[in-house]
This record gives sequence, C-alpha cells and structure tokens, in this order.
Amino acid sequence: MSKSELALFGGKPVRTEPFPRYNTMGDEEREAVLRVIDSGDLSKFMGAWTEGFYGGPEVRALEAEWAADVGSARAVSVNSASSALVVALGAAGVGPGDEVIVAPYSMCISATAPLFWGAVPVFCDVEPDTFCMDPAVLESLITPRTRAVVVVDLFGQPADFGRIMDIAARHGLVVVEDAAQAPLAHLGGRRAGTLGHIGVFSLNCHKHIHSGEGGIAVTDDTALAERMCMIRNHAEAAAGPRGETDLCNMVGHNMRMTELEASVARCQLRKLPGLMEARRDNCRRTMDGLSTVPAITFGGLREGATHSFYLLPFLFDEAAAGVARETFLDAVRAELAPTRGREKEGVKIYGGYVQPIYWLPLFQRRVALGRDGFPFNLAVNVSYERGLCPVVERLHLRELFCTDLMHAAMAESDIDDVVAAFCKVWEHRSELAATGE
Ligand SMILES: Cc1ncc(COP(=O)(O)O)c(C=O)c1O
Repeated sequence: MSKSELALFGGKPVRTEPFPRYNTMGDEEREAVLRVIDSGDLSKFMGAWTEGFYGGPEVRALEAEWAADVGSARAVSVNSASSALVVALGAAGVGPGDEVIVAPYSMCISATAPLFWGAVPVFCDVEPDTFCMDPAVLESLITPRTRAVVVVDLFGQPADFGRIMDIAARHGLVVVEDAAQAPLAHLGGRRAGTLGHIGVFSLNCHKHIHSGEGGIAVTDDTALAERMCMIRNHAEAAAGPRGETDLCNMVGHNMRMTELEASVARCQLRKLPGLMEARRDNCRRTMDGLSTVPAITFGGLREGATHSFYLLPFLFDEAAAGVARETFLDAVRAELAPTRGREKEGVKIYGGYVQPIYWLPLFQRRVALGRDGFPFNLAVNVSYERGLCPVVERLHLRELFCTDLMHAAMAESDIDDVVAAFCKVWEHRSELAATGE
C-alpha cells in the first residue's frame, strides 16, 4: 500500500474516467451542410466587382445575423480570426514603420498581425487581476508613430475599454478589439467585439462555437467594413471597376469563408446563449468549490462586465501554498483523467498560458519579413527584451493557471471531481513540500 494519499505518489486518484468532450455539432449543422452541398454552390464569391464580390447567401446571412446579434452595423466574414485581424489593420491604414500597441499574452497573431503590413508591434503589459491590457501602460507607450492598438479580451473578459477608448480618442488611434475568446461577453451593457472601432471573433475549432475555421470582423464604420471586404477578396481586382480612390493597403488576398462554414456558423450562433449559460454555471461551481483553497483565487471581474470564460483563469499564491505552482498542478493533474478523444493532451489544467509573445524567436532575433530585419529596422526605441512586461512574465512563470474543464459538456459531478482534486492536493500539500520539488 502506498504511503501517500496523493495519486502523484501512488495513492488512489480522484478520477480515472475521461472527462466528456465538448462537441457542439448536431443535426442542425448536418442539415445545413447538406443543404449547401445539395445546392452545388460551396462558395459564390467572385473576386471581380460583381454581385458575387460579397459572397453567397449563407455568407451574407451569417454576416447579417452576426451583426444583429452583437449590435454592430456590419459584420465581415473571413476564414479565421487571424485573417480578420490582418484585414482590420489593413483597412485602418496601418503601414510600414507605424507602431501598433499589442498585448503580450494571447494567441500570437494578436501581436503579429501588424507585421503583415510592415508595422512594428509594441508590447503593453497587462493588469495583474484581469490579464487584459493595462490602460496606464498603454498611454505611456504612445509615440508620434503609434497608429493603432490591438486589445485582447483575454480568456473572455473585456479589457478596460472605457479608459482605452478615451486614450485612443485623445491620440487619434484606431482600436481593434480581439474578442476571439469573448463571444457574448459584455461591458457596460455593450457586447464584446463592439467596444473598439473594429472587433474580431474566431470560429476555429477550439472556440465556444465554431465552423472548423472561420472569423468575423464587426464595425459600425461602413468605410472600414468596405475596405475589409476589399482586402479579404483580391482588392486589386475590384478597385478599378469599383472606382476606389484610396488605394492604401488595397492589396488583397483570398480570405473568404465558404458557404459550408457560414451555414454551420449560423447554426452555432443560435446555440451560443445555451452553451454559454452552461459554461458560466460550471465556472461558478468551480470557483465556489475552490474558494476553500486559500492559495487559489479567481483573478477578478471588471465592474460592469460579464465574462465568457474561454478558459477559467486562477491565481496561485506559491507562498501561501508552500509549494511551487507546477508541483501543485502536477499533483492535481495526477488526480484526474484526460478528456475523451483528447487523451494525448493530458489533463487540461495549464500552468500559465502561452508564453509572452515577445519571447518568440521572431522578436528576439528581429527577423520577420525577409532577412534584413524589416520592419524592426524602422523602429525607434522598441524593445523586446526579457522583463519587458513584468506582470505577464510573473503570471506566466509563477502565478496564473487556467483550465477548460468547465465547458458546457461537463456535468456537475465532473466539476465536483475537478474541485475535489484541488482540495485533496491542498490538504496533502505538506507531502509535496517534503519532496523539495
Ligand atoms: C485571442 C485570439 N486571437 C486570435 C486568435 C486566432 O484565431 P483563428 O484561429 O481563428 O485565426 C485566437 C485563436 O486561438 C485567439 O485566442
């Protein structure tokens, strides 16, 4: 018999049965896809300046429904949120040598999108409790070269847009809100995605709702919407016949969504409120359960905001626990089982999130477009050194952990197992400290 209760040291784990998988596809999506296949029109986009320039019926219906749902004048669908960020900055007129202030803790495209237009990303540290861009730091980073800001609603909580939009207005900056993780979140009664000048959503397969791949950009500015439509669809082919006079960034691509994805996304949009309610209930249950563990706190909810919990983030106090975060989480993971169909990914509790983006080799070596350091060689006093964003680095290395074991397919009993694993490790933490790990 094992000397320890902890599964990490041979004790009986809290749970061995895999957790349920989050799968939002059903009969509605199947029927929608078949409808498109039967039509024979899997895409109706045309690059030329014809009616097909704006896509087929599913794409147009999705855009109308998405815009109405979030409360914006226009929605422009693309093939990913990454593309949406690129078209948004292009439409905003970002160009070589411009500085774009970006978040260091996010999927990398939130910070690398400016590079596609030859602009230089400038990293802004985050608030220690919400993990979103800190407006005070943002203001201190503005220079005469700053043209835009990409603000991320990290983990599903809106950033402090009240202050950010005020700063942007005073300095004449375009604000792109990366709401890829925040569908159905709110701030001050307005939906995430509509808080900046352009908002971006993701429909990739990891998100609350998805169409495999896909992205949407929303805006109230018709001119920006039209410029985004141009860039997603071979702008140069349509510019002449359309009579476009401002050719800035009218170098297009093919970032079009297919009718198949749009038809699925329409079904998914209708499911979002129900999926979100279940997710929020599960998060509340997890937070309540973990409130008995003094070393673990939920970061914080901004006043006037609702959170959509792409991931559920926590802060871990190593001093209070007497053990390092990784040691503690290793023990928790040992108590639990992976997610069915995702066994190779292990137990989905993560110490930190993605690494601070400026740690990536492209920033450390300043090699992005070509081999000669462009566009970094246009930058003045822009740093990517370690320690640049101390809050993010501390969160990443020691304080933050997050989980997706609270999605809508998790039953209450599944949540209770997750909580039980944390509580068990907490009770037996002295055994972990004794290992000296
Ligand atoms: C905050 C954020 N922005 C952008 C993206 C990119 O999304 P996509 O995969 O649709 O390009 C992601 C994807 O994980 C994300 O989490």
